Amino acid sequence: QAGSALAGLKLLITAGPTREALDPVRYLSNHSSGKMGYAIAEAALAAGAEVTLITGPVNITAPSQAQTIAVCSALEMHHAAMSQAPEHDIFIACAAVADYRPETVADNKIKKNDDGLVVKMIKNPDILADIANSDPRPFCVGFAAETQDVAHYAKGKLNRKNLDLIAANDVAKAGQGFNTDNNALTVFSKTQQFDIAFASKADVAKQLLNIIHQQYNK
Ligand code: C5P
Repeated sequence: QAGSALAGLKLLITAGPTREALDPVRYLSNHSSGKMGYAIAEAALAAGAEVTLITGPVNITAPSQAQTIAVCSALEMHHAAMSQAPEHDIFIACAAVADYRPETVADNKIKKNDDGLVVKMIKNPDILADIANSDPRPFCVGFAAETQDVAHYAKGKLNRKNLDLIAANDVAKAGQGFNTDNNALTVFSKTQQFDIAFASKADVAKQLLNIIHQQYNK
């Protein structure tokens, strides 16, 4: 029945980019708009779920019924997600988390000089992998943005990060993926594959939640 399919379920969703500070006025980030994660949050609320949305800085408005936690950096997102995860049934990692951050954040604005600037970057924690390997652990869904060999790399991530499902999108295809209003996904479990055809992110979100719900119930 529409409006109650996900009633009683608690979903944790990460969305948007992270910002990695270089100094008090500068950061490194990416082009993630947060649209896919927000569309999933909207669709989950419409289906009766309770939603916690951990969001990086984006220019879109969070659904008012979601419990929203705004963060900036990957470390902040990691901290928020790890503390929320045990209280949720399903974790959907939509955020485009920066893989690296500057090793040190300068206390003052870095001054320009006649030379170049070398910044040492260190690895950020993998939020999704850390939650998937925690105990108790929610049902874990990841995203994989790939430009080639989509199935191969997505399945590799599914296994390496110990996930239940991974939703892969081919970001090399025009009009889908980062910062667009439409998307198409191929979803992999350890044994199955589901194709979601090119459609609005709202529509894709609804179909993805159907697949997640059906697999969660197994
Ligand atoms: O390994 P890759 O970054 O391609 O994996 C993408 C998936 O992992 C996405 O679901 C993303 O939200 C999640 N991820 C994460 N923490 C990171 C890097 C990626 O949760 N540090």
